[in-house]
This record gives sequence, C-alpha cells and structure tokens, in this order.
Amino acid sequence: MAQRSSFVVVANRLPVDEVTLPNGERQWRPSPGGLVTALHPVLVEHRGTWIGWAGGDGTAPEPFDLEGIHIHPVPLSADELERYYEGQSNATIWPLYHDAVETPVYKRRWRDSYRAVNHRFAEAAADVAAEGATVWVQDYQLQLVPAMLREMRPDLKIGFFLHIPFPPIELFMQMPFRAEILRGLLGADLVGFQQRLAAQNFVRLARHLLGLRYVGQSIQVDGRQVKAGAFPISIDTKDMERLAADPAVQARAKQIRAELGDPKTVILGVDRLDYTKGIELRLKAFRELLADGKLNVGDAVMVQVATPSRERVEHYQTLRVKVEREVGRINGEFGKVGTPAVHYLHQSVDKQELAAMYAAADVMMVTPLRDGMNLVAKEYIACRGDTGGALILSEFAGAATELRQSFLCNPHDPDGVKEALMRAINAEAHELKRRMRVMQRHLRTHDVARWAHTFLDELGSDDTEN
Ligand code: ADP
Ligand code: G6P
Repeated sequence: MAQRSSFVVVANRLPVDEVTLPNGERQWRPSPGGLVTALHPVLVEHRGTWIGWAGGDGTAPEPFDLEGIHIHPVPLSADELERYYEGQSNATIWPLYHDAVETPVYKRRWRDSYRAVNHRFAEAAADVAAEGATVWVQDYQLQLVPAMLREMRPDLKIGFFLHIPFPPIELFMQMPFRAEILRGLLGADLVGFQQRLAAQNFVRLARHLLGLRYVGQSIQVDGRQVKAGAFPISIDTKDMERLAADPAVQARAKQIRAELGDPKTVILGVDRLDYTKGIELRLKAFRELLADGKLNVGDAVMVQVATPSRERVEHYQTLRVKVEREVGRINGEFGKVGTPAVHYLHQSVDKQELAAMYAAADVMMVTPLRDGMNLVAKEYIACRGDTGGALILSEFAGAATELRQSFLCNPHDPDGVKEALMRAINAEAHELKRRMRVMQRHLRTHDVARWAHTFLDELGSDDTEN
C-alpha cells in the first residue's frame, strides 16, 4: 500500500529533474519553480505527495522522498507521449485555449490517449490520498482527472487550477469531446482560473452546454456545488529580489552589458519558444524601427532567449524556422562585423544568469498574443531593484490586469508595439522608477505563496498560515 497523504498535488510534470553526477551516477534534484516553492511548506506539513510524469517514456521510477515531499512518478509510454502530451494536450487544447492563434488539430486517437492517461493520474491520486484528503489538480493536461477522481473517491476535497486561459464559449465549442472535458472539470469543488473573465467563460459554458444553474456563487452540479473563481498566480518575489541583489548577479549584469558593447539600450525577450509568445512580432517591430532609422545598431541591441519547447510538435517546428529566419534577416540587413543587431539564444539559462539578464535589460518585451499570466513579466519587475527599466506588456497577457504601470500594447498592431517600444526607450528615468516602484509594491504582497493560500482557503483546506 502506498503512503497515504492528506495533501496531494497532481500535475503533468514532477517538480524534480534527473541529473547525471560527475561519477556517472543518476540523481533526482528539485527543479526550481514557483509552484513547488509555494506548495513546499504545505506538502511538508501534510506529508504531501506530488504525482506527475518523470519525463521520458517507458517505466517510471519507484516513488521516493525528496526534501520532505513524497514523489510519485506516473509512466507515459512513447505512444502516450505522442498522443496525450504532444497531441491532445499541446496540439489540440493548448492552441484552442490560446484563442486558436494556431489552428488546433483534432484527432480521435489523441483524445483516447488523453482519457487513458488522465485515468492513470486519477488512479494514482485515489491510491495515495488519505481519507478526506485535499487533492489539487493542475492544468490543461489533466482536465478529466477531477471527475474521474470524484467517482473513485467521493470523500476527497478536490481543487483544480488552470494555468492557461479558458476560452470563450464560441471557441470551446469546437472541441469534439467538449461536454466530457467540462464534466471532468466540474468534478472539482473549486475550479480556479488566472482571470475573472476566464471564470465567467466557464460559468457561462456550464449553463450553455449542460444547462447548469449558477446560484449563490456556485454552479449546481448533481446536488453538489462547484465554485469557480480567479486566482492570479505569481512568483516568489522575495527570492527573486534577493537573487537579483546578489553582488555576483549584479557583476554578471554589468559584464553582459559590456559584452553587448555597452549600448544605450538593451532590449530583452525571454520565453519558451512558443507561438503564443509573440516572438516574431517583437523581432519585426525591432527590424522596422532599425529600417525607419528610429533605432541604430550599436545604440540599441536586442537579446532574445528562447527555451526549446515541445520540439516534436509541428507548430513549434514551424515557429522555430520563422524566428530563426527573422533573426538572420535582421542581422544580415543591419548587423556589422562584431556587432549583431539581435543576439538569439535557443537555450535554457540558469536562474542566476536569467536574473543577471533581467538586471542588464533596459527594456523587457513581453508580447504574447495570449497568455494565462506570464511570469517572466513579474520576474523582470522583481529583478529591477531601484534601477528603473521598462516593461512592454501585451494586453493579452494575464499579467496586464495587475501590471498597469507597464507600457501596454496590442500585439496585433505592429505600429502600436513600435510606438510602445519607442515610448519606453525615450521615457525619463524618474518616470520609469516611479512605474517600477508601484509594480514592485504590488508583487511584494501578491506573491505565489499568497496565491496558494488564497486558493486553498477558498477550497476550505488552508490550515497553512504561519
Ligand atoms: P510559460 O509558463 O508559458 O512558459 P511563463 O512566463 O509564465 O510562461 O513562465 C516561464 C518560466 O520559465 C519563467 O519562470 C521563466 O523564468 C522560465 N524561463 C523562460 N525562458 C527561460 C529560459 N530561456 N531559460 C530559463 N528559464 C526560462
Ligand atoms: C506552461 C504550462 C505548464 C507546462 C509549461 C512547460 O507553463 O501551463 O503546464 O508545464 O508550460 O511546458 P511543458 O510542455 O514543457 O511541460
């Protein structure tokens, strides 16, 4: 019998990475991330278990303990990786929920695999959850888990949080097994979203598709009450501020600027290489400003760091070709020997290097066509100390609801993006500092720990206050 926990997190990915030591031995290490940082104290206090995929295909490692968390790996076969993860999760649901900015692909065999894998995760949760435990299911890969788990274990308190947007009815209705997904989510006691509008979409959908009534702040489902609400996620602000203030990180930031030729303006983009992030449009805006003579190579330099992501999914392969072609075009037309206009890194960088990049950047461009939240925008602000800096932020990122002192833009309007970039570059230093201070104050009180407490409190299971 597996260890029983009174608090269980179910997410597609485990919060651990397997690393190879110099002696060749393989070892699990915690992978840094806001979610695990926020939930760590709750997990430790409740002998909590985290259920997730360990990466790779084939058999999963045996459950183990790491830094006070019980880690419960779930296996995915090569076939499931292709159908459940790359297919249904990332070629159907991901584009559909992001306003169909790329065309969602629908395949019946993907859907069947999604069902089977969701069932496996639900079974794992049913196995490890103690009587009356709280189970918190995360994100779009596992939307069927709440209902499946409720069926197996009606005694549990079940929460679900969607990290990505929830689309309006008109878009959601494209989904071939739409009622099943909706019923899957309605298996939870509380369904959390990043935005109020997303929660409203969900409530409207429940009425439209299943005729469910919304009474007293809850959806009425088979005699149960399901709450839906907005819980905007955040970062570990203190940790990020501390990291950026570290003298080694500050020294590295100076060094980065020097390596870039000490330009007047460093413009930065940091994203997973994903078509929702608007990487191409920001490159195009930069190219046009160089062509218009409003910016000059040498004075201004752009750095784009793009983490490889979902590389076997066609949409992502196409995007990579387009981004790399655009980078090549800009450097070909405007670069000089030893002074490229755009520095492009298709790689993941570690936390210190990332903080140094944020600290080195005068302007941060966060221009998604649609994004549930966008933590990069928040991380940049936390790394600025009292040095100012400007955030260009798409109105279509969840973060735009909170970060009103950023330079907001509509990513669908190239002239608007260019105009926002020029306003940011030409803004007075005191004006930039004022804007930053307001946003920093907000993030200090609205961090990821508060997000977790607020959600668990609403679910009725937060006894985690210090
Ligand atoms: P998403 O969850 O869609 O990838 P977010 O902006 O919400 O977008 O979160 C991305 C997270 O990944 C952030 O914490 C950010 O620091 C990290 N990240 C993004 N790009 C890189 C990179 N090239 N190297 C290291 N970390 C990265
Ligand atoms: C987004 C999703 C997460 C996902 C992450 C990385 O943040 O909301 O659920 O884990 O992207 O994507 P990946 O496909 O590599 O897990």
